[in-house]
Amino acid sequence: MEAKLLSIALGFFLLFLPQVASVRVELDKEKIAGFWKEVAVASDQNLVLRAQKRVEGLFLTFSGRNITVKAVYNSSGNCKTEKAVGSERDTAGEFAFPGHREIFVLDTDYEHYAILRMSLIWQGRDFHVLEYFTRSLEDEDNPSFWRFRDMTADIGLYLLARHGRCAELLKEGLI
Ligand SMILES: *[C@@H]1O[C@H](CO)[C@@H](O)[C@H](O)[C@H]1NC(C)=O
Ligand SMILES: *[C@@H]1O[C@H](CO)[C@@H](O)[C@H](O)[C@H]1NC(C)=O
Repeated sequence: MEAKLLSIALGFFLLFLPQVASVRVELDKEKIAGFWKEVAVASDQNLVLRAQKRVEGLFLTFSGRNITVKAVYNSSGNCKTEKAVGSERDTAGEFAFPGHREIFVLDTDYEHYAILRMSLIWQGRDFHVLEYFTRSLEDEDNPSFWRFRDMTADIGLYLLARHGRCAELLKEGLI
């Protein structure tokens, strides 16, 4: 376990080294589908943390090798959604989206938490964000969160507000 965590943490910094692939979970797409609440975001780029659109939750759907990510955010009081359709890469847990965006599933137990790495190339620069999600809207004391905090100890961490109403609407399928 320790070794796995260490390699995940290193994976964040040594993005393009081959060992990163080996730490990713064998992904069961059916099991990771559905609602995820965004709990915390870590990035060494302040720009990312200061983003105007603070995503509260995601809903993942799969169809063959396609993935649809529906994200909900609070835009000055209104819940807005955005959809992106991507496709699975040959490596399990890696998905590519238009606009040089990628999602990697670093760790998940499917039922309680998921740790994803989002990457984006924008204006020739790489941006990476590590994100912690939970299935539940409630604050759960899951040990995986403390591992996430350890992993991201040297990176700027942004904790989301406790209860996002937009996440609730997405979870209930009302949006
Ligand atoms: C995957 O997406 C492509 C492009 O949007 C579409 O043409 C294709 O039918 C989709 N495949 C499945 C299995 O949904
Ligand atoms: C959106 O955020 C504002 C504060 O910026 C808050 O007052 C409002 O209740 C939020 N709306 C929802 C639907 O969560």
